[in-house]
Amino acid sequence: MRHSNEAQNTHIRLPAGRHGLLRETKVHYKTHYCGDLRKGDSGQEVLLAGWVHRRRDHGRLIFIDLRDTRGLVQVVFNPKTAPEAHAVAEQVRNEYVLCVRGTVSPRPAGTENAGLPSGEVEVVAGEAQILNTAKTPPFYINEEVEVDELLRLRYRYLDLRRISVHDRFAVRHRVNKYIRDFLDARGFYEIETPILTKSTPEGARDYLVPSRVYPGNFYALPQSPQQLKQLLMVAGFEKYYQIARCFRDEDFRADRQAEFTQLDLEMSFIDQKDILDLIEELYAGMIPALRPDLKLAPVPFPRLAYDDVMRRYGTDKPDIRYGMELADVTDLGPTCDFAVFRDVIAAGGQIRGFAAPGGAAFTRREIDSLTQFVEDQGGKGLISVALLGEGGIDDLTPEDIRSPMHRYLSMELIKGMAQRTGAKRGDLLILVADEPKVASAALDALRREMAARLNLADPQVAACCFVVDFPLFDWSESEQRWDSVHHPFTAPKAEDLALLETDPGKARSKAYDFVINGMEGAGGSIRIHRREVQEKVFELLGMAREEAQYRFGHMLEAFEYGAPPHGGIAAGIDRTVAFFTGAPNIREVIAFPKTQSAYDPMMGAPSPVSPKQLEELGIAITKSTEVIAPVEGAPQADLQ
Ligand code: AMO
Repeated sequence: MRHSNEAQNTHIRLPAGRHGLLRETKVHYKTHYCGDLRKGDSGQEVLLAGWVHRRRDHGRLIFIDLRDTRGLVQVVFNPKTAPEAHAVAEQVRNEYVLCVRGTVSPRPAGTENAGLPSGEVEVVAGEAQILNTAKTPPFYINEEVEVDELLRLRYRYLDLRRISVHDRFAVRHRVNKYIRDFLDARGFYEIETPILTKSTPEGARDYLVPSRVYPGNFYALPQSPQQLKQLLMVAGFEKYYQIARCFRDEDFRADRQAEFTQLDLEMSFIDQKDILDLIEELYAGMIPALRPDLKLAPVPFPRLAYDDVMRRYGTDKPDIRYGMELADVTDLGPTCDFAVFRDVIAAGGQIRGFAAPGGAAFTRREIDSLTQFVEDQGGKGLISVALLGEGGIDDLTPEDIRSPMHRYLSMELIKGMAQRTGAKRGDLLILVADEPKVASAALDALRREMAARLNLADPQVAACCFVVDFPLFDWSESEQRWDSVHHPFTAPKAEDLALLETDPGKARSKAYDFVINGMEGAGGSIRIHRREVQEKVFELLGMAREEAQYRFGHMLEAFEYGAPPHGGIAAGIDRTVAFFTGAPNIREVIAFPKTQSAYDPMMGAPSPVSPKQLEELGIAITKSTEVIAPVEGAPQADLQ
């Protein structure tokens, strides 16, 4: 066994080991995983293969931390007992691929490494072979140091080599397996649906694929398998699921990717409660199975009405790990001396706010940064009132108030706000006056920001809830028509059906969301299954009969062939795994993610194609941008 650069194809050939096992079983590279070795393996002869994580030359002895998919083990090379292996160890560098035969041995007393699962043992090398060399990597793989994300994605195969990253993918694998086992046990079929399909209206732009056979025509990549899963219900599969890839050309954020994965499911002969119960059972089982350390409130998870959560939290994805619920004091505003409040109210706006516990201790500078924060979110600003001194809220005097606006705020307004939010002395009241939508968005952002600053969002808690009774439509000012809040196949609540004719904006839907710690984990609905109701909804969405027929004729037609009552939901797998692993964004749990601008710096996609390919497709390029060169010159602002 010697160092050989052509070693890729030559299997390590070892003399029979102590037990004569290695040759007989024809194990060429490894008998054990590095990270699995423990004290109980002491005395065993092992064959290991992996990457050189770190090499320390102590003059006489050389120590190599050898890494494979299961972790690290220390291998020690002694020139006296194994001079050839030691000579190989002298040549290796970080990330070389190495095969070692040796004996597991307890580490000498005092040299154990409690931080390493295999830290009680080391492998005393008998033989070693370099299977492949490696260039110096563009960043450290063996240290948890901050590396520019674009560089990491450019060399994603190196970035993925880190053990902490492998651990995340182990979680991803277990999430998928848990889901498959759970649904299999309940009689669901896993059915694949096409990727080359027709546009599905989920609110984003489609990715289009040109057809060569029908020049000038395009497939769309599915934004979700929505229509196909409904058609599977018409086909009589009563319980369908799929771990489905979805494609949406939209603006990316930390929790959004162009290409992402859903647990997509659909059932027939069920109602909203059945779907919510199923998802509740899935997550109430999966959370303790994957993260036994998390505190999870017992089921049932709260089921909160949309109007209620918008009033209490300003968002349809409330983080209910902490309080700081919003209160409305608009009714106290008209009489106050503050012109800003009076003007906002006169224009149909609101004054709402919340009490941040202990926030009275915030400095002026901290409060200024909050104001800036609201302005960055598109709000006009905030009014803060610190409640000082001792005693109850009823006894508050103007001396107990510290506020940049104190001259304009009546004690009646401050006390009213304090009472409605349950504020105590020592708290900071935060008020926003604006039109309802803007006020909600600003207060939601402020509530999350305050929770972060005051450490109220306990990462050891999983707080789950459902939001139900969403409106069916919201009004699009730009298009001057109704828009679906969920998607056009969502059923109105039976009791609100008549409102489609009289007051569509008031109609509530059978749509629901599942929320974990303030993140939308899943969304779904009970569907329309009658042609006339579906046609009415298309009409309200501003779709002429012919257009509805052209785009969704297959759905309308299918509804005429005995469509059962049905409904379903889709959960974000990437978001679920990010939650379980504590990853800061979903790119960290996707093997080969794209940047914020949907660019793949490793493969260099998207990329131009040859004139011949375009000609075959009947496509002429009328507009083109030079695609960013991988790494060099790539925009750093791309990743946030
Ligand atoms: P919806 O659009 O709400 O519903 O999506 C369902 C869930 O998918 C996740 N998700 C995303 N994850 C990562 N990147 C994205 N760009 C992204 N967009 C959505 C979220 C979300 O809750 N067909 C319907 C489901 C149904 O009605 O059954 C749908 O796709 O976690």
